[in-house]
Parts: sequence; C-alpha cells; structure tokens
Amino acid sequence: MLKELLKKLLEAYGPAGNEGPVREILRKEVEGFADEVKVDALGNLIVVRKAAGAGPRVLLAAHMDEIGVIATHIDEKGFVRFSNIGGVSPYVLLGQRVVFENGTVGTFGTEKLDDIKDLKLAKMFIDIGATDEKSAREKVSVGDIAGFQRDARVDGGGRIIAKSLDDRSGCAVLVQVLKELKGRDIPNQVYVVFSVQEELGTRGAKTAAYGVNPDIGIAVDVTGTGDTPEAHPMAVSLGKGPAIKVKDSSVIAHPRVRQLMVETAKEKGIPYQLEVLERGGTDTGPIHLTREGVPSGAISIPTRYLHTPSEMADIDDIENAVKLIVALLEKPLGEKVL
Ligand code: CO
Ligand code: ZN
Repeated sequence: MLKELLKKLLEAYGPAGNEGPVREILRKEVEGFADEVKVDALGNLIVVRKAAGAGPRVLLAAHMDEIGVIATHIDEKGFVRFSNIGGVSPYVLLGQRVVFENGTVGTFGTEKLDDIKDLKLAKMFIDIGATDEKSAREKVSVGDIAGFQRDARVDGGGRIIAKSLDDRSGCAVLVQVLKELKGRDIPNQVYVVFSVQEELGTRGAKTAAYGVNPDIGIAVDVTGTGDTPEAHPMAVSLGKGPAIKVKDSSVIAHPRVRQLMVETAKEKGIPYQLEVLERGGTDTGPIHLTREGVPSGAISIPTRYLHTPSEMADIDDIENAVKLIVALLEKPLGEKVL
C-alpha cells in the first residue's frame, strides 16, 4: 500500500509552482481520513484532522514540489534556453530527460566547451526534438516548467531509487499518518500541510503556517547522508531510522521538540538518528518564525544523491517515520509537554 502510494507520488509531475498533479493525487488519498480539506491562495493543500476535545494545534508539513527547469527563450532552430527552478546542477542535467506539464519531453545539450568545468546552465539548452522555432512553440512556451522524467524503483528490496524523494517521501509519510489515525482518539488537532514552492525558498509553508497558527510545527523532509565512499562526514546513514533534526541552515530545532521526538522513539523502540545538515533548509524554517514563534522540529528521511533524478532512500526509514509521528500524536503536544 505504502509502496504503491510512493510510486504514484514519486512519478508525478510537480516542479515548484506547478504542484497541481501532486495535489490532486494527495487530495484523493486523504479523502475519508480528514475532517476538512482546503487549498489556500498559494496552492498549499491543508488537511485537518480534528480531536474529540479542543487539543493543541499540531502542524505537520511536507512539500509537494520538486526541482525543475523553466523555459526562458526559444531560438529559430527550436532549441529552448532555460533557467533553474530550485537547486539544479548542470552536471546532473547532462544525459537526463525532462517533461513539461503537457507531456512534451526534452533532453539536454550544451554549447562546445573547452573544459567540462565551464559547464553552466547558461551554456545549455533543452532539445525537444523540434525542427524549427514554430514547431517548438507549438509544444513549449516561455515560462513553461519541466521536471525530471523518471520511473520510480520501489520494489528493489528495501531501497527506493526515484526522482523527487525530496519530498514526495514526506508527502507519503503524512498520508500514511492520516490513514493510521482513522478511528483513533488523539489529543491533538492535526493540520497536515502539503506545501508549495519549498524548493524556491520555503514559500508555501510560510503562508500556511500563518493561517494555521499552530502550537507546534513539525516538517517531514529529506536529509543527506554520510554513508557513501569518501562522503563529507555526516552522522546519518540509510536504513538506520528517520533522522531527528537538530539543525540545518534554516532552523535550530526547538530543544524540547527534539527531546520529545527522541524520548518517543526510545519508548516505542523506533530506531532514529540525529541530523545536523550543514547546507540546506526545510519548511521548519518559516514555520518556527511564524507570528510570535512556534516551537518546531523536523523528521528527515535519509536520502542519497539529493536533487538528482536518482535519489535513494530506504523504505524502513519511511515506515519508521510514520510510526514515530503517530506515536508523537498520541501525546498532547501543547504547552504542558513543551
Ligand atoms: Co530539495
Ligand atoms: Zn525537500
């Protein structure tokens, strides 16, 4: 079940600003597991799961968008110049395919280079197979956005290889959490925010958090690992449990929120790791700075090869993230606990 949902979400088209197809999948998945479902002005999907009484408001966030490229110019031969949507390396693009929302597929070419170190997005173009400008313009317009085209490998043992594990894995975790809460009496009002435009600077989470006005915020996103050959040292590995965030470039997790996650993992025998991400942020950034401040933390899925069409994660870490969040929600996450 979780694997099927993952495959659907991982293969969906949804670069930042164009999250519609992902939102529709999620909207259908949460049907029957929510008391209220709404979409705000920026496109965030907000799913409310009420408690029996008036419990604390817990915001859980995962971002729907993925990185991509945006068409900036079409030349007389039909080649499409582009810019990046989020953190896209030119080296990663070589040899890859991207797909536009209308299904048009393109591959990448580059101008002649004397040295591969000179490779820059500005020297590259998308080749959609057009024969001239007119036929190119029939398929792609300036401003159209494309994302990686890749199938998701979810059945190769415990390891998943796919594009956009960042952050469809987090979306799948939160759908599964909502499903497991069905019929359960919990002391918290749960606001699941499937956010937009995280890859462009955590934009969706900012307005959604203001609207929800939560007592506590938790983002679910991916983090890097240090478990590959000659990797930059990082105490996170695939398969050793979800990572409880201590710090990234956007936030120092609230010490009590972090502690609560660690205590809960220990109580339930759920494996966990501690995450210090030296570069990169998450939706926790804007959430903890909302209004007068919100005690916030994050649970991260350890992922290799981030921002490539072949990211890798371990299904056990995803399943254990679900368990940890469900266990957290069994406690009243309001002022008394914090
Ligand atoms: Co990302
Ligand atoms: Zn992310």
